[in-house]
Amino acid sequence: MKNLSFSMQKGESISIQGASGCGKSTLLHLIGALDKPDKGEIILNYDNQVLKINELTNLQSDQFRQKDVGMIFQKFNLIDCLSVRDNIYLPAKINKANQQSIDHTYIHSLVESLGISKHVDKLPNQLSGGEQQRVAIARALSHKPKLLLADEPTGNLDEENSDKVSKLLVDTCRTHNTLLIMVTHSQQVAQLTERRLRISQGNIVESDNVEVK
Ligand SMILES: Nc1ncnc2c1ncn2[C@@H]1O[C@H](COP(=O)(O)OP(=O)(O)OP(=O)(O)O)[C@@H](O)[C@H]1O
Ligand SMILES: [Mg+2]
Repeated sequence: MKNLSFSMQKGESISIQGASGCGKSTLLHLIGALDKPDKGEIILNYDNQVLKINELTNLQSDQFRQKDVGMIFQKFNLIDCLSVRDNIYLPAKINKANQQSIDHTYIHSLVESLGISKHVDKLPNQLSGGEQQRVAIARALSHKPKLLLADEPTGNLDEENSDKVSKLLVDTCRTHNTLLIMVTHSQQVAQLTERRLRISQGNIVESDNVEVK
């Protein structure tokens, strides 16, 4: 990918589609300061600040990742030795150390809406793939991030759950004015976001303007 650039309005949701291997996960990891580019620059203009992701010190990128970003990984990345509850509370607890209070009522409602209440005392590997995916979603939202990066958040869910969970994601982001960047292979899920982008030949384009192959 080269000279890739896009902008979003406050509270906006976008979906990103593109062929397998075109770099969607890599793009999310770069935006979230979870990865660094081999060359070039990643510049994020947001909240009246300009972040040059590849020039952030460890402390700055840790703070950005922990406080401002929520990440739903394609492969979940739940912590196996922590209970589902502790996984979900992890970002909220880390931010408590940064003086941000934990909203237990909100987290409880997330857990309820995602249908995972009965699993909170279990370990992640005692859950099915789809249940783990929903835990990963609750974890990514528990600290009310400013930017939610969701990598195939419904990839392991059946149609009914996919529909429910993707609507919950979009609605929760709207309620909290969270920017949502969601990678999805599902046309139906992509329709829920305000804009649809597509990575095509190393560039990013509004997909409503291009022919979908
Ligand atoms: N850690 C890595 N080091 C080097 N190359 C990588 C690494 N991770 C992925 N790649 C390569 O970078 C390219 C983009 O991978 P990426 O995972 O971003 O694709 P993707 O669009 O998310 O695909 P999918 O839809 O299958 O999830 C692929 O060609 C992949 O083989
Ligand atoms: Mg991917």
